[in-house]
Amino acid sequence: MEPATGNAAIAERDLAVLWHPCTQMKDHESLPPIPIRRGAGVWLEDFEGRRYLDAISSWWVNLFGHANPRINAAVRDQLAELEHVMLAGFTHLPALELAERLVRITPPALTRCFFADNGSSAVEVALKMSFHYWCNLGRNNKNKFVNLTNSYHGETLGALSVGDIPLYKKTYHPLLMQSIPVPSPDCFWREPGQSWAEHSTRLFSAMRETLERYHEEVCAVIVEPLVQCAGSMRMYDPAYLALLRTACDEYGVHLIADEIAVGFGRTGTMFACEQAGISPDFLCLSKGLTGGYLPLSAVLTREEVYQAFYADYHHLTAFLHSHSYTGNPLACRAALATLDIFEQDRVIERNIGLTEALAAAGARFADHPHVAEVRQCGMILAIEMARDRHTREPYPWQERRGLRVYRHALEHGVLLRPLGNVIYFMPPYVITTDEIELMAQVAWDSLATATMD
Ligand SMILES: Cc1ncc(COP(=O)(O)O)c(C=O)c1O
Repeated sequence: MEPATGNAAIAERDLAVLWHPCTQMKDHESLPPIPIRRGAGVWLEDFEGRRYLDAISSWWVNLFGHANPRINAAVRDQLAELEHVMLAGFTHLPALELAERLVRITPPALTRCFFADNGSSAVEVALKMSFHYWCNLGRNNKNKFVNLTNSYHGETLGALSVGDIPLYKKTYHPLLMQSIPVPSPDCFWREPGQSWAEHSTRLFSAMRETLERYHEEVCAVIVEPLVQCAGSMRMYDPAYLALLRTACDEYGVHLIADEIAVGFGRTGTMFACEQAGISPDFLCLSKGLTGGYLPLSAVLTREEVYQAFYADYHHLTAFLHSHSYTGNPLACRAALATLDIFEQDRVIERNIGLTEALAAAGARFADHPHVAEVRQCGMILAIEMARDRHTREPYPWQERRGLRVYRHALEHGVLLRPLGNVIYFMPPYVITTDEIELMAQVAWDSLATATMD
């Protein structure tokens, strides 16, 4: 007998063997995983023909739609030539061309590109490279990292150590290295009447004090430029980054910009750092890098960093970090095709219209009695649910209001995945204005349902 292929049958098989990421598996007793058969553009389709608008770009990776014909063709072509070769001792054109292009399009002075194969690994690379750079210079006392409260940099132990979201971090605390947290410039907490720039600038004094006090021991400050995505899409002003760049130079500390979530046009510019006119010492990229096709990440750094590792072998200063799939040719080809689309379709300019459409669609939420804030940065729009919009008293996490939104939206054909009390839109750039309207309307109805009692 053929195995059953309906949603329920597949979900049942799945639950017998699979352990899903970022999931309390018991939740699936009431809400089974949805088996997806195919995707096209912003739409995902299950095994019973039901469609879901992917309003969150499948964990923020997809830029130009599912099964994009241009990226498909590039990957298919590459598949016929070479699927993989290790990048130690060997090289290949997809990795080489991608490195050349990333060096060209990222902020100035980033001349070297080191590949890894997922976002957390890129963060590990940046942390280790920064630490190791200082060791190579004989500065062995530099062994700490400064991070922002409410930050997120991934789930491996190093990345988790510089993150600050208790939900992910607390359990593993005994395993983690200590970081030095500094209050986030998150503008949700600005005083009434204060601008984003005023608030973020004011918050910088805590960073300056920390650097003043600890700079002899600190390798680097790590930040998510402009938007703390996993930290409920909290946003801050570019002025903070400009101040941070100057202070890092002043105190002899590296700046690591983790643009894994915000890179590739999410904030309105190709890279968020551009809005502050700065170049970090390490730039971490992943997610949208391959258009959401294949796992790949890159860390870009300065020539000075590279040169601190470059010596005769017996000095033992080489950076020996590696991952088996580093710079995989298929992933690099997908990335090159993604960058072609950016160039050929003038995506950053074209997205201005979409950003405005997103703002217009989000405007309806501003006066809702259970919305404390609607905020936007480029192609990210977030709606902060609250029990009381005036006091900003949040809904207790135990009530799982976000889950109610998720369920309702799914039933109405939109994939939203609120972060706690925060509903957000982070759609692929191929979304149309009609689809934006549909997404916002379903979110509105879901919000109404989730906040009914
Ligand atoms: C800012 C940031 N850094 C790092 C990561 C980790 O990337 P990955 O999930 O590919 O390990 C994420 C993932 O959401 C992220 O948002």
